[in-house]
Amino acid sequence: MNKKVSKLKTLKQKQAKSQLSDREKSVQQDLKAQLQKQIDALNFGNLKPEETYTEAEKKHVADLTEKLKKEYSEQQITEAGRPNHPTGEAGRAMLERMNDSHGPMTQWALSHLQFGEKDRVLDIGCGGGACIARLSTMVKDGTFVGIDYAKTSVEATRQFNQALIDAGKLEVIEASVSDMPFADDTFDKIVTVESYYFWPDFETDMQEVYRVLKPSGHFLLIAEVYDHVGLPQSVLDNIQAYEMRNLDLDGFIDVFEKTGFADIAIHVKPGERWIAVEGIKA
Ligand SMILES: C[S@@+](CC[C@H](N)C(=O)[O-])C[C@H]1O[C@@H](n2cnc3c(N)ncnc32)[C@H](O)[C@@H]1O
Repeated sequence: MNKKVSKLKTLKQKQAKSQLSDREKSVQQDLKAQLQKQIDALNFGNLKPEETYTEAEKKHVADLTEKLKKEYSEQQITEAGRPNHPTGEAGRAMLERMNDSHGPMTQWALSHLQFGEKDRVLDIGCGGGACIARLSTMVKDGTFVGIDYAKTSVEATRQFNQALIDAGKLEVIEASVSDMPFADDTFDKIVTVESYYFWPDFETDMQEVYRVLKPSGHFLLIAEVYDHVGLPQSVLDNIQAYEMRNLDLDGFIDVFEKTGFADIAIHVKPGERWIAVEGIKA
């Protein structure tokens, strides 16, 4: 319906300037008729008056209202917090929400990695720090590094994982994926959750990831969405609004191969849009 409305708006602007051709006038009439049909189909006229609702209907409406309120407030938090570069108080609130909301997907994705007891693990775009906390429970004697180019994220990760820092097991560094302050072949495992969408140049940034990974080390890219048929309009709108990169399966394979990764594996979660792409350094 949105596309039709926006086409109608364009035609109306031309109409105001008396620039409509006969063909465009007929398209305009057609679109108006189609939209009216869609509005009629919604059938608002048949709604029961509220005072006649049964208890079950009242509960249904209350639940829906609660769900919409939650979704609306999450959307507001995300918009204010700038997911591509979390900033200030609004950024902190958004990172706290993501620490919770990304939990099930992160847990599912990390379960594909076989960790060694003493692995050195890097989390790129560590955000609110929950992924590092999770990793520390999976790699008991491991050491961890988080990097993020947003100061707010670095502070949030430090605060969330103060005990790991105090134990000398975690370092959190303000840096971009494009230029990481690590020697070649440093990490056994590298993960990134919900961050690649925003990296400035995916192909060269992947070279940088590859550089700091040890030979035979594993890289796991985790994302809540990937490009495939049937993505709902609301998801496509978010992708556009936040200027997110959105690769499809071939796109991932292409870049992982170009980077030099061997044994590329793609995991998708049935019933979700989650994806975890794994590559091993040759
Ligand atoms: C949507 S948040 C996800 C945070 C966290 N990984 C999670 O799953 O909750 C994206 C994070 O990636 C970081 N990020 C984006 N581009 C980056 C870059 N070029 N280098 C380092 N971090 C980056 C952002 O600052 C932000 O903290």
